[in-house]
Formats: sequence, C-alpha cells, structure tokens
Amino acid sequence: MNRKPVRKAIFPVGGMGTRFLPATKAMPKEMLPIIDRPLIQYAVEEAAAAGIEEFIFVTGRGKHAIEDHFDESVELNHLLSEQGKDDVLADIRGWMPKPGQVSYTRQMAPLGLGHAVWCARHLIGDEPFAVLLADDLVMSKTPCLKQMVDVYGETGGSVVAVMDVPREHTDRYGILDVNHDDGRLASVKGLVEKPAPADAPSTLSIIGRYILQPNVFRWLDRQEKGEGGEIQLTDAMASTLEDGPFHGMRFEGRRFDCGNKIGFVEATLAFALSRPEMAPAVREIIANLR
Ligand code: UTP
Repeated sequence: MNRKPVRKAIFPVGGMGTRFLPATKAMPKEMLPIIDRPLIQYAVEEAAAAGIEEFIFVTGRGKHAIEDHFDESVELNHLLSEQGKDDVLADIRGWMPKPGQVSYTRQMAPLGLGHAVWCARHLIGDEPFAVLLADDLVMSKTPCLKQMVDVYGETGGSVVAVMDVPREHTDRYGILDVNHDDGRLASVKGLVEKPAPADAPSTLSIIGRYILQPNVFRWLDRQEKGEGGEIQLTDAMASTLEDGPFHGMRFEGRRFDCGNKIGFVEATLAFALSRPEMAPAVREIIANLR
C-alpha cells in the first residue's frame, strides 16, 4: 500500500516546567542537559534518525535558548576552528538541522498538549506527522521513533509508543483500551487520559512518541477542554479511532521520565554509564557515595 511518509515532527516545548523550578525560571526545561546534550537535542536527533525532514517547535515565552541552540553560531564555529577543535565542530554540524528545516510557532498560552499540537496545524497541512515530547527520553538500540516509523510502514494509520505500567500509576498517563494484543502491537479501540487505577481499561500507557494523521485537528479545532481542564491530545486521538488503524507499539528500549527530578537523575546516571569513557569513573563515584 502506498502510504504518505512521515516527514514532519512537532516538538511541543510550550510547557512551564514547574516541577523543575527554580532551574526553569529563565531556562526552558527542554534545555536541561543529560550529560552534554540538552533533552531537546536527543529528541531532534531521534527524529532525524527516523527520517524526519521538517522540525516544528511549538514554543512559549522564554524559549529563545532553544532557537539559539538550533542556529549557527558563527563566533563559536570560528573559535573552535582556530583552536583546532575540528572534532567538536564536526559533531555540531552532524546533528544541526539544515537551513529551512526548522520552524517555530508560539502556543501563546499553555492550554495543554492537544492545544500545542493544534498550534502547528498550518505547518503540518494534510499529511501524517510525528510528535515527540523531549522530557520522555528513550535509550534504545534502534531510535524509538524509527521503530514506530517501521511499524507505520506495515500498519499505516496512527501509532503511539506504549509501555506497561503498574496499575497504581494509570492516573499519570494516557491509557489504551485494546482489541487485540500480540505482545508487541496492540490495536486500539479506546483511549482515556489519566484514568483512576480502578477505571483504567488496561495498564498500557502512552509515552511521549506519536505518529498521527491530520484528522486529529478536526477534534482539536473544537478547543474542548478535557481532563485537568486542558485540551488533551488523548481526546483528539480517541476521536479518530473510527477513521483507520490505530496501534500501540511496545518499544524496545528504556524510557526515562525526565519531566520529574528522580527520572532525570536516573537518566543522567544511565546515560553516563552507557558511555565507555565515563562509566568507570561514575561507577566509582556511586560506590563511594554509599
Ligand atoms: P508536562 O505535563 O510535563 O508539563 O508537559 P510542563 O508544563 O512541561 O511541566 P510541569 O508539569 O509544569 O513541570 C508534557 C509536554 O507537553 C508540553 C511540555 O512542554 C512537555 O514537553 N506542553 C504541555 C506544551 O507544549 N504545552 C502545554 O500547554 C502543555
């Protein structure tokens, strides 16, 4: 079947990041670094590795550092080249999107994730697109979005990355109601945002990776508030279930919730331990802290 490829990705970065105050008072949460790369860079590199060609940031107030991060710094390039740090320069050139690949739109008011995605509707047009939340960081052999694009190639429709969570945590996530589940792919018949454990139709929860069809904008155009008084992406996705296939994909890899402090520390340690040049020293530090 000839499917439209997933060429565009939305990065909603309009949230307030209140759980990281005061660190996020003047700096976007998405610029917090895990080792030496800001969270948003991991997400952009993951998208690029999945074949994304257009990177759309939905920003808010105080997010200029993100725009600067994905722009050329003539002074820095000059300095690095004068100092003979060509490897550092080459690394920067390697992950930097090319001119014209990045666009920005402002959310103006943080009314929820669904609202953030809706703000990018004119930049998406009539084609499938990905959404990546930078505070969900996934460590995996094959980048998580690439795994999803491969599944999309087989199934078409919409694909969300999911993981099984303890039942007492269902009220933190969007949860799937499934028809059929083969252990890797689950076909979805319903979606609920943050259900109480007793009401959750399953424990399969959506993490911050989505491949969606533009029909979600139909529902988002209505600007209806859902759970927590926010315009919810989960409600918009639920409204499209009758239009075509919708799958949850258990991703291969480990997800870190970097939107909360413990998850952030865990990610920092895991990424440090995954780097051969750092791992021995970090192991020693941890052992000495006990
Ligand atoms: P969170 O629920 O983590 O909210 O948003 P937050 O405001 O970023 O952080 P806290 O809870 O105050 O600490 C999940 C993702 O959705 C984006 C955020 O930027 C984050 O990537 N988001 C959320 C928006 O872009 N706009 C919104 O209105 C809400």
